[in-house]
Amino acid sequence: MSNALVNELNQLLSDYHIYYQNTRGFHWNIKGKRFFELHVKFEEFYTEALTTIDDLAERILTIGGAPLHTFEDYQHTSKLIVYKDVSEDSACVQAVKTQLEALIAQENKVKDLAAEAGDNETEDMMIGLINVQQKTIWMLNSWLG
Ligand SMILES: [Fe+2]
Repeated sequence: MSNALVNELNQLLSDYHIYYQNTRGFHWNIKGKRFFELHVKFEEFYTEALTTIDDLAERILTIGGAPLHTFEDYQHTSKLIVYKDVSEDSACVQAVKTQLEALIAQENKVKDLAAEAGDNETEDMMIGLINVQQKTIWMLNSWLG
């Protein structure tokens, strides 16, 4: 087990929790003429994040590490911005995009460390996440015009 790899996976796990809660906030606080469309879309994003959170924590356990599991740890460890009281539709979509870009950067870091450690499965997991998120960013860019 590579300690550096576990640490970076825990960083990603923490980032995902902040992203999850930020996106729930957008789901609740979104206002304007595109409420229905975005309310549903944000729910889709945070529901997907929940699955990823579980997969990441269990991957950390599988390779012999210990996943962070308290809000305190997540807040201290995550490098993502906490968005508070954001309700304007473009600001919410832009914030999701910014966070996905940050998640991809961290996933790339994990991917490279996993490759170095010969952990093809973690590497493959990161490639899968990045693949989906790059597509989502394309869609968010289309939405933002
Ligand atoms: Fe809801």
